[in-house]
Amino acid sequence: MVVIEDTPEIRKEEFGLLEEEVERLFSKLHSLGWSRSACESIAPFTYKINQLKKEKGFKILAHSYQTADIVFGIADIVGDSLALAKKATEIPEKRILFCGVDFMAESVKILNPDKLVLVPARGRDCTLADSITGEDVKKLKEENPGAPVVCYVNTNADVKAESDICCTSANARRIIESLEEDTIIFIPDENMGNNLADLTGKNIITWPGFCRTHHALTMKRLEGLIPDQETKTFAHLECRPEIIETVDFAGGTGDMHRYAAKASKGDKVLFLTEQGFIDRMKIEFPDVHFEDSKMICISMKRNDLFATWKALEKPTDDNIIELDEEVRKKAFRAVNNMLKY
Ligand code: 13P
Repeated sequence: MVVIEDTPEIRKEEFGLLEEEVERLFSKLHSLGWSRSACESIAPFTYKINQLKKEKGFKILAHSYQTADIVFGIADIVGDSLALAKKATEIPEKRILFCGVDFMAESVKILNPDKLVLVPARGRDCTLADSITGEDVKKLKEENPGAPVVCYVNTNADVKAESDICCTSANARRIIESLEEDTIIFIPDENMGNNLADLTGKNIITWPGFCRTHHALTMKRLEGLIPDQETKTFAHLECRPEIIETVDFAGGTGDMHRYAAKASKGDKVLFLTEQGFIDRMKIEFPDVHFEDSKMICISMKRNDLFATWKALEKPTDDNIIELDEEVRKKAFRAVNNMLKY
């Protein structure tokens, strides 16, 4: 809860600008049901954060699963995990505030050791990243000699350090298909591994890890989410195989964004992924009708405006992504390979 004495100080001469900020926020957020007074309550934060990031030379990168006040209020670059990793490497800024989960910010640090990478509120509780360690990967390699290791981006740096190539949902299929080996170790998302086996025909050795947000979508829940036959369904590859078999399309949030951008006025679409992404689509493409998925990733939602303001104003050790240099160097190869696809 935000207490009043913790609200950013706005000088009297800035109040006119604050009104402009309320209008800017309202013009974006009203389509999600935000009232003008709700925008008034966050305007001091977005205004101050935008001021601070410029003063201190930060770029704010946000994953599409972040809430709309972050995506439309303060982010400079919004995207899927692959796009954000690429952008973080391309931009000249040496300071990045990353609104997303730890392992995504770690990937940025692995690729850019000389950049300062901050995360407003660390959510060290991704069920996928938590399911496997670097030691587990070493054992898998011993048990399956010759099989390359493809690790999903939802892993900690020690796991990436033991892998040959990292991937996201955007390039996983391309990467698996490009490997000459028929047997591939894919960690740690079992659903995605099984989905990739179906899509590519390769023999995929999986690991029993799941994204709790996408795995919670059962066939029964799906039935309740599809309003009619005209609604096109598009599921994230982290969903269960029976969901992927049922829907019209499957892929990552980058693929979904491209689909939404091409949709026609009045089209009905159900994206089976985190609700934050659907909120982003509703604002960006108001002529398309997007059904709610009601799927929430609590690790992503830990970042909020208050934590972001505090992290920019005075970062604590907990905000700063630091990696063991040996592990970072070893992990670099897998993450850098990912950028080529
Ligand atoms: P994207 O790679 O589509 O951004 O997916 C992120 C995700 O679902 C993390 O669990």
